[in-house]
Amino acid sequence: MIGRLNHVAVVVADLAAASAVYRDNLGACVSEPIALPEHGVTTVFVELSNSKIELLQPLGEESPIRKFLTRNPDGGVHHLCFEVDDIYAARDQLKAVGAQVIGDGEPRIGAHSKPVLFLHPKDFCGTLIELEQA
Ligand code: CO
Repeated sequence: MIGRLNHVAVVVADLAAASAVYRDNLGACVSEPIALPEHGVTTVFVELSNSKIELLQPLGEESPIRKFLTRNPDGGVHHLCFEVDDIYAARDQLKAVGAQVIGDGEPRIGAHSKPVLFLHPKDFCGTLIELEQA
């Protein structure tokens, strides 16, 4: 069902410092910060030849990643995003095997303007999973 690894999301406390680590120390191609208030994050995309890293910093008091940063003050891997051809078919297949879709189960428009869903870590080896319709 899943296709390419679209991105690995890493939550960071300081987006400028994290961008510098990827750009200057690792020699990666790093975007300018992009504020996504509807998602409660500011993000920087790190473009790799085979995938992306998304650096996420909380934006606003209600940011869904603020608690993660409180628990992990140095930051850390937050989720993996896999591409799927049909997000509704993928959702229904996963619900049929008992996986928990986070929220109301309806896809939302994600950071790349494509429909996404999140799956509970308890069903996926302790890792939050995002599905994005490619
Ligand atoms: Co993501």
